[in-house]
Amino acid sequence: MTQVTNFGPGGDLLQPLIDNLCMRGPLERSTSDMAALLAAARGSWLPGRPLLVCPGGYTRSCAYADQRFEVLLLNWAAGAVSALHDHGGQHCWMQVLEGQLLVDDYLRIDAGERPGFARVEAQGSRLMNAGDLDLRSGPFDLHRVSAPPRVRALSLHVYAGPLKEFLIYDESTQRCQTLQSTYDDVLRPSVLASR
Ligand SMILES: [Fe+2]
Repeated sequence: MTQVTNFGPGGDLLQPLIDNLCMRGPLERSTSDMAALLAAARGSWLPGRPLLVCPGGYTRSCAYADQRFEVLLLNWAAGAVSALHDHGGQHCWMQVLEGQLLVDDYLRIDAGERPGFARVEAQGSRLMNAGDLDLRSGPFDLHRVSAPPRVRALSLHVYAGPLKEFLIYDESTQRCQTLQSTYDDVLRPSVLASR
């Protein structure tokens, strides 16, 4: 893994968003309130500190985490594809900051009662441009996210509560498995002490 230098979080430009969420957490806010807050964060975006890049993949950098929520930046190489996944029953707001992301929506249609087994159904796809917002909630609300070929992307994610573990799904074999949520980088180590 190496570092890129041409875009990344601009120092503390995410701080107003984090300060605002610390005063009133994401789950205490309406959908439109969160949308407005994230839109304002995008408006303050400027090139700054480099983010890690994984050739052909994506990296997850933590900007803030406490017991109530976490804020991450995901840096997508062109053509990077996530696994089909849920969000551990948490809410996830994802806003594209740079580039484009393709989102394939899926619904889990089994009851989730057999460990390791899952049936999923495709619900359609949409191309997200910079500024577009995606919200996931509940254990049956799945998606796969990818950067189009030759288009890299940067996205801002707010999870409430913090994502500890989640499931990834294999559509063809009807299998699922648990993964622990991890960071590739921590942008503000001091804020993680309470996690
Ligand atoms: Fe996701």
